[in-house]
Amino acid sequence: MRTVTLEGRGAFDEWRDAARALLGDGVAPEQVRWQLAGQGGDLFGAATASDLTARSCEISVSKSFVEAAEAAICHSDSERFSLLYRILWRLQHERSLLQVTSDADVAQLTRLIKNVRRDSHKMKAFVRFREVDAVQAGRRRFVAWFEPEHFIVSRTAGFFQRRFTDMDWLIATPKGSAAWNGQALKTSREPAARPEAEDETDELWRTYFANIFNPARVKIRAMQSEMPKKYWKNMPEASLIPDLIAGAERRVAEMAAREARQPPAFHERLQAQWRGREEDGSSVDLPPLERLRQEAAGCTRCPLHCHATQTVFGEGPVVAEIMFVGEQPGDTEDLAGRPFIGPAGQVFDEAVAAAGIDRSQVYVTNAVKHFKYERRGKRRIHMRPDAGEVAHCRWWVSKEIEIIRPRIVVALGATAYLSLRGESRPIAEVRGMPIPLQDNRMLLVTTHPSAILRMPDPDLKARSLEAFRSDLLGVRRLFDTLPAL
Ligand code: URA
Repeated sequence: MRTVTLEGRGAFDEWRDAARALLGDGVAPEQVRWQLAGQGGDLFGAATASDLTARSCEISVSKSFVEAAEAAICHSDSERFSLLYRILWRLQHERSLLQVTSDADVAQLTRLIKNVRRDSHKMKAFVRFREVDAVQAGRRRFVAWFEPEHFIVSRTAGFFQRRFTDMDWLIATPKGSAAWNGQALKTSREPAARPEAEDETDELWRTYFANIFNPARVKIRAMQSEMPKKYWKNMPEASLIPDLIAGAERRVAEMAAREARQPPAFHERLQAQWRGREEDGSSVDLPPLERLRQEAAGCTRCPLHCHATQTVFGEGPVVAEIMFVGEQPGDTEDLAGRPFIGPAGQVFDEAVAAAGIDRSQVYVTNAVKHFKYERRGKRRIHMRPDAGEVAHCRWWVSKEIEIIRPRIVVALGATAYLSLRGESRPIAEVRGMPIPLQDNRMLLVTTHPSAILRMPDPDLKARSLEAFRSDLLGVRRLFDTLPAL
């Protein structure tokens, strides 16, 4: 019997070198005992992987086996090394073994890979960064603590590097760590200590979660399978779940009892058209933005004004460096006459604040100024404005830009992009890269917060929210790099 001790906590390269050497010596799988360094047992006569490598030989295996082995070796099952060696051994004579899904070894391999993928997926969705006070070399620093089931940190670190490339971060776990400083990604399989940090991001997650929680659609089983309880302890928002579930029934009853909200009568909207005008219809002497707002209040350029409560014009200081353009007002905005104050507005507000942008200092408007919807019973359901409606409203948006003179314009979603550029493009193609506009203005494109709210898959939703927040951090960064006027 040969005992092989893996010293590098079972890293793939070490197993591969040892396996190659054993295969070269013709050692059958049942003759090998695999163990990790420090796992006790009878070490007398045990070879370390590096002893074996000296006698290694060239062995060819398919790319699909290498990929499968790289994934399966991240599993915490102590039998993984021997399983992989047994499959490698068999592959020398059974070339199509991996296609035999009913084979017990192959089935076990598939199970390990599936578990590893799931764990990695959960890590991407449930890692919660917290900001550490000290800024280093002008970069903000974040730490996160996560408890994976398997050794997936190195494997999953690339995702975080791509997604959070413009901040420094450390993800510490009991099964290794990963750190990024803008230059290099360092990973380790050594257990890391839990970093101590709590910041206002925790509160942000809680507010966000409380917002997207729909009491009328609670499916506790599905929710716990998507967000298994074992992850809760490291997720700030999870502390809300028991209370939200307990109060769900009452909230649904309250929602049902609430009266349908009635928009004001049509004649009030027509009167708005004449507000701010002299008897003869000429405009009174108002500042340009105010005049524009009043003119827009009576806009009848497209049929959307017939069913909307009122024009929802932009809001913010008369001269602002950053302007955000959304799609169109939602139900809440239509009734209140103000942009981004409903559920999407809350997601927007939180992400803006997290990026260190003061909403009161930016101008917020929409590509289309009237709410387009369809009635379903008492509810008014959002409908996306079509290209014609966007084209009619472009005039107002261009006037707002002319008056506000922002240096950065942020398009929230595809409709805003269409309005600002006069062409349609998939958001993924234009997202995150500054696009020059007229008058030295920069356009940045990101997703629309309502699109995030509508996502049914909680993992995807959480990832999209992170991406949205990271885009707004990008806006903030771009703003910080602009020379002062
Ligand atoms: N969605 C938008 O695009 N704008 C709003 O004002 C609200 C929701």
